[in-house]
This record gives sequence, structure tokens and C-alpha cells, in this order.
Amino acid sequence: MKGLILAGGSGRRLRPITHKTAKQLLPIANKPILHYVIEDLVGVGITELGIVVGDTAQEIEKSVGNGSLWDANITYIKQEKPLGLAHAVLISEPFLGQEKFVMYLGDNMFEDSLHDVVDGFEKSSTNARLLLAKVHNPQSFGVAEVDEQGAIKGLVEKPENPKSDLALVGVYLFDSTIHRAVKAIEPSNRGELEITDAIQWMIDENQNVEHRTLKGWWIDAGKKDPLLLCNELILEKIESLFLSQIGETVTLKGEIVVGENVEIIDSNIQGPIVIGSGVRIERSDIGPYVSIGDECKIEDSSVERSVIMEKSYLSGVTQLTKSVLGREVEIDGKESEVQEPTSLMLGDGTKVNLKNG
Ligand code: G1P
Repeated sequence: MKGLILAGGSGRRLRPITHKTAKQLLPIANKPILHYVIEDLVGVGITELGIVVGDTAQEIEKSVGNGSLWDANITYIKQEKPLGLAHAVLISEPFLGQEKFVMYLGDNMFEDSLHDVVDGFEKSSTNARLLLAKVHNPQSFGVAEVDEQGAIKGLVEKPENPKSDLALVGVYLFDSTIHRAVKAIEPSNRGELEITDAIQWMIDENQNVEHRTLKGWWIDAGKKDPLLLCNELILEKIESLFLSQIGETVTLKGEIVVGENVEIIDSNIQGPIVIGSGVRIERSDIGPYVSIGDECKIEDSSVERSVIMEKSYLSGVTQLTKSVLGREVEIDGKESEVQEPTSLMLGDGTKVNLKNG
């Protein structure tokens, strides 16, 4: 089986962070989401991978390379415009050929490995296998209606009045029938070729479409709150690792990962937390649930439940919570009277002054 990872799209719902950064490269516990996706596929023995890329192609290729890091072979497939998931399949036919494949949305993260999901599919006569999960906001997803026997009756993309709370999760297994399906459908109201419509076409053609229900958590990390939640869920699983010496004036609690050349002075660190290399933290309270990218500097600040990307600088910022900060962000909060929790989402290179006057 081959793997098809979709890493195009514009990341509209994560702006301004995604003005410059591909959403699939946003870090969860300091590792790009896309790397977790590749690990997942390689973990079930799928090493022939196609990655569909859009405007952020260069950045993605720089981060992933030819796949040798994972002993995988990676082929990049350029999608000129984000015209939908089914369109991504359409343009990937030369790469996929007649082989069965797993399509994996490059901004989705899962608790469990793909083993149960892919088990038996390759040798079966099933044309498509979908993954479903119960959600509280089905309007935001493709939704499946399942009959009493457990067969899928119909699929609708982001329905106003959903017929169930079962969302289509971002992993799909297909045989080559999907290539006929994506050619048979028309663009939706949002101007995209929807994978949901292509699968509906297969159902209407009496193809064998089955599903599995997801057990562990699943997050479509393409929005701020899910991204932060995902960061927390992954941090829950880390185990302490110190690649730097930490001084005596520092209190450490919980699971803490510290990279190389890290300096922490007069501070309280509450895990779970991941601190990248070359970071300096002084007179600050950090954690829980914080990921700090390489070469950040934080002084006289308190931060919890946040993702801070490389080379950012915080000074005198108190009670920063539930924030996503891009690369090289600078926040100066010294002398600020703001004594309430502050939640920010700032794109790369943003400079913010919270000082009075
Ligand atoms: C896409 C699919 C949708 C699916 C979702 C899962 O939505 O169109 O059917 O439920 O991924 O993450 P999008 O992220 O394009 O809004």
C-alpha cells in the first residue's frame, strides 16, 4: 500500500500564524505535525509516500526532505490551487497507480497507531474504509449517516443539520475505484472537489464502503484551540529528559524535556513542558503544558498552556495562557498594568508592546 499525505491548503483558520508557516508544520511538543503523520504511516509499514503540496511546498520539502529520516521514499505532488481533497487524489493518480492507499490529512493527529485501521484492508475486496469519530460539532466536518446494521447510508460535507454526530476523520483507505469517483463528481458550493462526494458516489455505485470507529482521541489541528489541546495531549505522554544542567535556583516539577545549551535561572518550571535547545529562561514561572521552540528567551514572565515557536522573546509578560506565538515574536510587557490572563495568537515576527502609555 502507498500513503498519500495532503499538505496543501491555505491554513485560513490558523491565520496569522499560517501566513508564513504551513499549518502541517506547526509544532506539537516541538515536532511538526507532519512528522507525526509520516511516523504513523511508516509505523504500519507504508514507506512509499506521496505528499500533496501547495503554496508552502518549499517549506514542507525543507522540513521533510526525501524521507530518509524515516527510511521512506517521498514523492512531492504539486497542487496548483487548493481545489479540494478529491482534487488532490485526482492529481495523484500517476503516483498511486492501481495500488491501494491510505490518504492522511497532514494536519490531523491521532492518539492510537494506524494498526487497527489498516489491518486486513490490503488483501480484502473492500473498495473504501473510512474512519468515524463521535464529535460535538458535526457541522464542521464531513458527517456519516449509518443505518442499524452499521452500513453507511450517506455522507454530507459540513451539513447545517447533521443527521448524526459521526464525523469523517482525516484518514481514508481506498482502492483504485476512487480514481473513477473523483472524475465523476462536480465541485461543491465552496468550489472544491469534496472527498465526501466521491465516497458518496462509490456508495451509490454499490461499491463496498465500510468504516471503523475511532477509539482514542483525534484532533484536526488546523485551528487554534484544537492545536493547543493537541499540544497538551502529546505533552501528557512525555518523559523527562535533560540535555542541559539546570542550576540550583530553579524548581522543577512534573515531566520536563530540556534541549542542549539551555539556561534556566531563578525560575519555576512545571511540567509537562518541552524546552528546545539554546533557550534562556530567567525569573519566570513556566508551565504546565508549554512548548518552547529553540533559542527563545523568556524573562520576568509567566506562561502556561501555550506553544511558543523558535527565537521568540518575552519580557515581563505575566499570565500568558492559551497562546500560540509564531517564530521571532517579541512581547514586551514590562511595567504593564495588565494583571489578567492574556491569550494571544501572533504570526511570525510580530512585535507587541503591552507597556502603559
Ligand atoms: C476535511 C474533510 C471533512 C473531514 C475533515 C477531517 O475538512 O472535507 O470531511 O471531516 O477534513 O479533518 P476540512 O479540513 O477541509 O474542512
